[in-house]
Amino acid sequence: MRVTEISFSSFRNLKDATIEPSEGINIICGENAQGKTNFLEAIWLFTGGRSFRGAKDKDLVRFGEHEAFLELKEKIYDREQRLKIEIKNGKRCVIINKVPQQTASAMVGQMCAVVFSPNHLDLIKGGPNVRRKFLDTAICQLQPLYTAQFLRYNHVLSQRNMLLRQLKKSKNLIDTLDIWEDKLVDLGSELILRREDYVKNLKKISAEFYSGLSASKEILFLQYKNSTAKENSLKKEQVKKDFKEALKNSREEDLALGFTTKGPHRDELEIRINEKSARQFSSQGQQRSAVLAIKLAETEIVRQTVGEDPIILLDDVLSELDAKRQSYLLKSIPQKQVFITCCEPELTSRLAAEKVFEVSDGTFL
Ligand SMILES: Nc1ncnc2c1ncn2[C@@H]1O[C@H](COP(=O)(O)OP(=O)(O)O)[C@@H](O)[C@H]1O
Ligand SMILES: [Mg+2]
Repeated sequence: MRVTEISFSSFRNLKDATIEPSEGINIICGENAQGKTNFLEAIWLFTGGRSFRGAKDKDLVRFGEHEAFLELKEKIYDREQRLKIEIKNGKRCVIINKVPQQTASAMVGQMCAVVFSPNHLDLIKGGPNVRRKFLDTAICQLQPLYTAQFLRYNHVLSQRNMLLRQLKKSKNLIDTLDIWEDKLVDLGSELILRREDYVKNLKKISAEFYSGLSASKEILFLQYKNSTAKENSLKKEQVKKDFKEALKNSREEDLALGFTTKGPHRDELEIRINEKSARQFSSQGQQRSAVLAIKLAETEIVRQTVGEDPIILLDDVLSELDAKRQSYLLKSIPQKQVFITCCEPELTSRLAAEKVFEVSDGTFL
């Protein structure tokens, strides 16, 4: 897929404009705090996901304004699509080819992108929640059903947690716990299996990219850790049985704590380099390469699943890589549409960019 045009109005600090990017490499160059990341964020929102910076929708509207509009034209499967996003009263409305949609999640799958920014190093350095979020975001983009199951799982989880706290006062509600647990097990095992499946693919492809980045000197290893599994089974019935049992066994502890201690919301994506935990033992350079390999693998999985290349958003990452890794990265993403932000105008000549946009105080020059 390719973005052929993007317009924004009252979005962050960007001055209202319409931009026609190239279908290859686009560079967005400018000093700090001019609006480069805001521009990538505007494109990203068309994946249907939350801001990759964790911003709330209402924060995306320009200070002092009430609503923001974004419009994007893309080529996908040789068709042209028009996507629109309106952010009003902190809520998102989406319009696809002039048809207003009932829910904002209808945008999922209309445009796929992979984003890589310096704070993605958190994928290694951060806690398990960062890695779970990475998996969930990646799978949500590809599987609308996962998005629905994920949202329902979180809803049921909060219902069980609420009930756990109520049970401290009124013991007669204990039977209701079974009902919520059954739902939690049904939805949770779906999440576990879909994540396991995704990681199986991610593991293989990211290991290949990492090997390329490290000139075959190091090995990257990923594994999904299902915290409720008693044995390594990918059979649905077994996953459900183990999860159910884990919930039963932890009831007392959960009642005492007032929240659910077992389930996919506690699972982990293990990342190892040369057999050692990347979080504990890897150098900054190794961590950066691991994230890059994982992101490149994510790109490849989108292509395999959707049959189209995702749009690649690279926020301030090139300056952090040495020349060898820069060139490996750029060699790995040929024929894709890429948006790269940077502060150094020198980079633009080296990258053979088809279009260079200079951003100053929210204005595209
Ligand atoms: N909702 C908003 N309305 C107006 N300006 C905003 C809003 N959100 C962020 N900004 C401004 O955008 C600028 C940062 O833009 P950003 O894209 O992160 O810069 P960079 O070019 O360094 O990537 C800051 O000056 C910030 O104050
Ligand atoms: Mg930035």
